[in-house]
Amino acid sequence: QKLKLSLAQLEKGGYDTFMLKEIFEQPSTLRDCLRGRIVDNCSRVVLSGVELNKERFMKAERITLVACGTSWHAALIGKRLIQDFCQIPVEVEYASEFRYGNPVLNEKDIVISISQSGETADTLAAIQLAREKGAFVYGICNVVGASIPRNTDSGTYIHVGPEIGVASTKAFTGQVTVLTLLALSVGQLRGTIDNETLHNILVSLDKMPETIKEALKVDDEVKKLSKIFAYAHNFLYLGRGYNYPTALEGALKLKEISYIHAEGYPAAEMKHGPIALIDHEMPSVIIAPSDSLYDKIISNVQQVKSRGGAVVAIVSEGNQAMNDIADFCIEIPEVPECLTPIVASIPLQLLAYYIAVNKGKDVDQPRNLAKSVTVE
Ligand code: G6P
Repeated sequence: QKLKLSLAQLEKGGYDTFMLKEIFEQPSTLRDCLRGRIVDNCSRVVLSGVELNKERFMKAERITLVACGTSWHAALIGKRLIQDFCQIPVEVEYASEFRYGNPVLNEKDIVISISQSGETADTLAAIQLAREKGAFVYGICNVVGASIPRNTDSGTYIHVGPEIGVASTKAFTGQVTVLTLLALSVGQLRGTIDNETLHNILVSLDKMPETIKEALKVDDEVKKLSKIFAYAHNFLYLGRGYNYPTALEGALKLKEISYIHAEGYPAAEMKHGPIALIDHEMPSVIIAPSDSLYDKIISNVQQVKSRGGAVVAIVSEGNQAMNDIADFCIEIPEVPECLTPIVASIPLQLLAYYIAVNKGKDVDQPRNLAKSVTVE
């Protein structure tokens, strides 16, 4: 039998779309992203960009993360990682706001830009400004040799391979992985992380490719679930702590490819506004892994339920209790709290994907969006 595949099908590796291919590629892209960076039996991180600039990282008094879109969501997770493990104050800015916001910077500042393409006009302008003001500029990029890496003092590539789907998936998990490595590496340098914590996180991070393979097994379940929400014109995504940015990213994915209005919100902040919108027509996706804020988020789930809203809860595997409260539970493998955004993103990517496919949308090239925004 002759196997007939068009060039386009070949490029998609047998998947219907680039986005689905890129979602399913994440076990191997994360393996590439981690390669050679966790050493000595998971006791040490080696990032050459940090090793070669030890003094800058030692004397840093503040780190500012600048980015746009999905990369900005990765930056929000990066803030938490750097604060937790390096004890350095961190600010996160949209590149477009930073560049026109008269930023006050000096040589004790580090500005880290995050960009998949390395060509985003606002991010490029932001780092050029930061360098003019004397800050040390570090880039976290995917596309090798792009304009942003060429305009930084140092940096780390995420090495996840070309991302074709306009909605970012594997680049996001790669960015968060590199930000985790960066925070751990600077933490070990500054002595702000203990060896046991470092080792535990590195063991889990090293296993992340297999963990993501496990997480992807919810594919069929999420596909079925996506059909239930044909009625929804609005979605709320809620998360706390490390997973507040995950909620923002889940909402952005849905918005980008299905054109359904979705809002990401810190779960506890919901009562100061969005709660007024909740009714039986507005489902909420709540990211509730078994972490330090789990008990708090349970009460947020109850607040949504008591107003008639359907709840899809993303929970750690084995969590039975949530079955009694939420309408639908999707389980993710258990990992240390700081790694939950990477794992929780998987079902959110799939949910957005299948909802968009059900609506017949072109997920790889959503209307009005560009993969790389090289104009202001
Ligand atoms: C566009 C893309 C997004 C991306 C953003 C930032 O809006 O559609 O997926 O997150 O640009 O791009 P960058 O390449 O700088 O990460």
